[in-house]
Amino acid sequence: MNFLKVLVAVCALLLAPLSFADDGVDGARPTVLITGANRGIGIEFAKQYAELGWNVIATCRNPAGADELNELAAANNNVVVERLDLLDHEGIDALAEQYREQPVDVLLNNAGLMRGPDRGQMVGTIDYDEFDRFYKINAIGPLKVSEAFYKNVKASDLKIMAALTTGKGNRGIPVPGFSLYKTSKAALDAIQKEIAIRWKRQGIKVVTLLPGRVLTHGETDAPGQNAVDVEDSISGMIEVLDALTIEQTGWTIQWDGELIE
Ligand SMILES: NC(=O)c1ccc[n+]([C@@H]2O[C@H](COP(=O)([O-])OP(=O)(O)OC[C@H]3O[C@@H](n4cnc5c(N)ncnc54)[C@H](OP(=O)(O)O)[C@@H]3O)[C@@H](O)[C@H]2O)c1
Repeated sequence: MNFLKVLVAVCALLLAPLSFADDGVDGARPTVLITGANRGIGIEFAKQYAELGWNVIATCRNPAGADELNELAAANNNVVVERLDLLDHEGIDALAEQYREQPVDVLLNNAGLMRGPDRGQMVGTIDYDEFDRFYKINAIGPLKVSEAFYKNVKASDLKIMAALTTGKGNRGIPVPGFSLYKTSKAALDAIQKEIAIRWKRQGIKVVTLLPGRVLTHGETDAPGQNAVDVEDSISGMIEVLDALTIEQTGWTIQWDGELIE
C-alpha cells in the first residue's frame, strides 16, 4: 500500500509539468504559443488572445525582465510565461518536451531581430558576424521552433504555423542598410514554404504574415509610410488566422487580408 502511494506521488511529480490546471491553461480552450511575447507585436498578440479566452503560452528570452508580460499573466490565469531563446535549440527542445501533451492550435513565430538602416547591413560594408546572427534568429530559429512543436500543432484542432515577415516578401524595403534583416526574412519566407510542402498532408496550415508598418520602437510616423495601429494589425492577423484554410497553406497574407503571394 505504501509502495503504491509512493508510486502515485512519484507519477504525479513526473507529470506535474504536463498538468496545466494550476496555471489556468484549460484543455477545452484553443492554445497559442507566441515567441517574443514580451514587447511590441508579440505582447499585443498575447493580450488579444488572452482577451479572446485562449490559453496563451507567452515565451520570451528573459522572463524575469518581462515586467509587462508578467503583469498580463498575473491578471489572466489563461496566460503562462516561458523562456524561449531562438539561439538556444536545446532550450527549445526542452520546452517542447515540457509541453509534449499540449496541443498548440496556433504556433506564432513572431520573435525576430529587427534593426536598420546601418552600415553593417550595406553591401560593401557587410558585418558578417551580424549576418550570422540575423540568419540564426530570423530564419533558422523559427524553423527550429516549428520542428520542435510539430507534434503539438498536429495534435490540435486548428493546426496553424504562422511566422511574421517583412516588406512584401523578398521584394522588401527598397533602401540600402537593411540587407541582413531583409534577406534573413526572405530566407524565412522560403522556409515557411518548405514547411507548408512538407506537412500539408498532415493538415498543417502554414502562413507567413505581414503586420504592416507598426511603430514598436517609438518611431514617429513619416508621411507616406502608412503606419498601422498595433491593435488593428494584430486583430487583423488574428482574423486572417481564424479564416485560414488548408488550400492557403504556404501563402503570404497581409494583416488586412490582402494576399501577397
Ligand atoms: N514592427 C513592424 O513594423 C514590423 C514589420 C514587418 C515585420 N515585423 C516582424 O514582426 C515581428 C515582431 O516585430 P516587433 O515590431 O514587435 O519587433 P520588436 O519590438 O523588435 O520585438 C522583437 C521581439 O523578438 C524578440 N527576440 C529577439 N531576439 C530573440 C531571440 N534570440 N530569441 C527569442 N526572442 C528574440 C525580442 O526579445 P527581447 O525583448 O528579449 O529583445 C522581442 O520580443 C518581428 O519578426 C519583425 O521582424 C515587424
